[in-house]
Amino acid sequence: MRGIRVTGWGISVPDKVVTNDDLSVRLDTSDAWITERTGIRERRIGGKTSEMAIEAGRQAVDRAGLAPSDIDLVVLATTTPDALVPGTACTVQAALGTSGGAMDLNAACSGFVYGLVVSAGLIATGAGRTLLIGADALSRITDWDDRKMAVLVGDGGGAVVLEPVEGPGDLLSWNLNADGSLRHLLTCDHGGYLDMDGKEVFRRAVRVVVESAQRAIGDAGLEVDDIDLLVPHQANLRIIQAACQRLGIPESRTSVVIDRYGNTSSGSIPLALEDALRRGRVRTGDRLLLSGFGGGMTWASAVLRWGA
Ligand code: COA
Repeated sequence: MRGIRVTGWGISVPDKVVTNDDLSVRLDTSDAWITERTGIRERRIGGKTSEMAIEAGRQAVDRAGLAPSDIDLVVLATTTPDALVPGTACTVQAALGTSGGAMDLNAACSGFVYGLVVSAGLIATGAGRTLLIGADALSRITDWDDRKMAVLVGDGGGAVVLEPVEGPGDLLSWNLNADGSLRHLLTCDHGGYLDMDGKEVFRRAVRVVVESAQRAIGDAGLEVDDIDLLVPHQANLRIIQAACQRLGIPESRTSVVIDRYGNTSSGSIPLALEDALRRGRVRTGDRLLLSGFGGGMTWASAVLRWGA
């Protein structure tokens, strides 16, 4: 049996900061409305998925003490590839000089958790060290005159190196879920802009996050109190708070970065993970609950023991 262990991590966000006040100049909105309804105070804009993925990936490989040629597979979770063809993971592969395969994976904002599970599955059946990246440039598919969407999104990404270990490894449980009959709730056509039924996404997001998180905790043989840190997708602070309350996880055991980055889709969970690591909030042996939801609808949770 071959499991996984996280041995490196990194993030990348564009330099340009756009505050709520900046948005209020051109849109009929306000800092008070955005902060109160979403928890977002500012976001980073102007990113390109490949560039953020390359930077985050390079940091993760460095931190793992590896050379890019030690990487056997690149999995890039993204909803905003640079182009339809080639896959953006191939741009990352070429820039870093990794070995083996490279592929994009689109599960919208659940992409990082989906990517974690896919990577662990490939490692279990023989893949070597895997660079898992979640990166999105939602600013590129956002109509900046649509206040409904513009206030929510940001650009960013993060990466982890997953190494094979003998035995069951650190991925203690997972579930992946989709309901394509709800695909109309969050859409973006080729060449178009994001559109969303925000109220309905909100309502369903809380429900599915709670359900899948509880299942992942149970499948790992744990109780809620055994979870040291919840690392949720960052779409709306009120969604995170409602899910925490229903799960019985205090906000003090939750990583929140939405105030600084907005919704970065596949980038949000690795950004929140890195923030917690940088602040010394994660210790070896801690049990992290990763939980995402997004367009599709897709949702997914995983319990990851921190082995690094
Ligand atoms: N600035 C100011 N006012 C705004 C606004 C904005 N950016 N967007 C909407 N409003 C107005 C609405 O027009 C409405 O006005 P009305 O009462 O006069 O009709 C009022 O604010 C309330 O709008 P509503 O849509 O009911 O707000 P809400 O509390 O549901 O919050 C979202 C809207 C989008 C923040 C919230 O529904 C949400 O976060 N949904 C989930 C989104 C999500 O998670 N998406 C990503 C999935 S990965």
